[in-house]
Amino acid sequence: MSLLDVRDLHVTYPGGAAAVRGVDLALAAGEKLGVAGESGCGKSTLALALLRLLPAGARVGGEILLDGEDVLTMKWGRVRAVRWAGASIVFQGAMHSLNAVHRIGDQIAEPILLHRKASAAGARKRAGELLEQVGLPAARASAYPHELSGGQRQRVMIAMALACDPRLIIADEPTTALDVMIQAQILRLIEELVSEQDVGLIMISHDLAVLADTCDRLAVMYAGRVVEEGPARQVYDDARHPYGRALSEAFPRIGDPASRFAPRGLPGDPPDPAAVPSGCAFHPRCPVALDRCATEDQALRAAGAGRRAACVHVAGEVPAAGAEAEVRSGTV
Ligand SMILES: Nc1ncnc2c1ncn2[C@@H]1O[C@H](COP(=O)(O)OP(=O)(O)O)[C@@H](O)[C@H]1O
Ligand code: SF4
Ligand SMILES: [Mg+2]
Repeated sequence: MSLLDVRDLHVTYPGGAAAVRGVDLALAAGEKLGVAGESGCGKSTLALALLRLLPAGARVGGEILLDGEDVLTMKWGRVRAVRWAGASIVFQGAMHSLNAVHRIGDQIAEPILLHRKASAAGARKRAGELLEQVGLPAARASAYPHELSGGQRQRVMIAMALACDPRLIIADEPTTALDVMIQAQILRLIEELVSEQDVGLIMISHDLAVLADTCDRLAVMYAGRVVEEGPARQVYDDARHPYGRALSEAFPRIGDPASRFAPRGLPGDPPDPAAVPSGCAFHPRCPVALDRCATEDQALRAAGAGRRAACVHVAGEVPAAGAEAEVRSGTV
């Protein structure tokens, strides 16, 4: 059985923004899945839905099976327990969600006391061990959040996420606010910790290069759907979906400053989720769209071993941008 099985997940916000439109994802225990896509493609909405953290009024459909149990139909008491011991989340804004007036050691110990029924001394000891695991001296437990740097605070958030030995960690753009060197350290830390402890990881980023480096598999989201999925390196090096390709071209290899400052190949923006284009939602931006892409919806289908993509060209080859084979009338 998968650790996580997401089936036909839909999320619509009040006002009609269809932010997630039918996502299927599976994650094995200990597996690392990267979720990529530009800002606005529904990545955070997906992450929040997994732990029932969406704002009131958001309509959610489908199934989210965590160890076989549907998160969407759990009672609230069970959801709260699952948020620590089943799956926990590290997100960018979390750095600011540490309580300014409590020592970090106490903040790490709190869920251990609450959900693990540990003694006060036991929880303190575990908090010290967790700090050391994330590369901070145990003695820093007595520090207040303002006494730490941004990178150190994010390490504390990771320690908190690990506190109750979750089976799954969801990291939503965990390092975007940090400088590049610290980002690399933190991502490596998350990757090492989940590998050592056989924890599943969903790492969300707009940066495909980072994900290809840290994850086993990649899912590329566009307009609330997964449009491509497969082994991370293969998706990054040789995407089958034109959006996956555009994204990997726009996000240069890590450590390649020249391309970092001259991304290419992806003009325009993802659609407003309240007005998603008909047919393939990528068609207004797609360099290899056909006439029928404006009306024909595309489901994910096999695109090589262990790979899936949702494009009319998949099953055949995706032509290179500008190729003459099949083109949208009037654009070439
Ligand atoms: N609370 C909300 N109410 C209405 N729309 C929202 C809300 N949160 C996000 N959205 C919209 O849903 C879409 C997807 O957002 P999000 O999941 O944050 O994408 P990503 O994380 O990929 O940038 C965006 O268009 C965003 O404006
Ligand atoms: S289905 Fe058509 S518009 Fe969509 S990505 Fe493929 S070629 Fe482009
Ligand atoms: Mg986001």
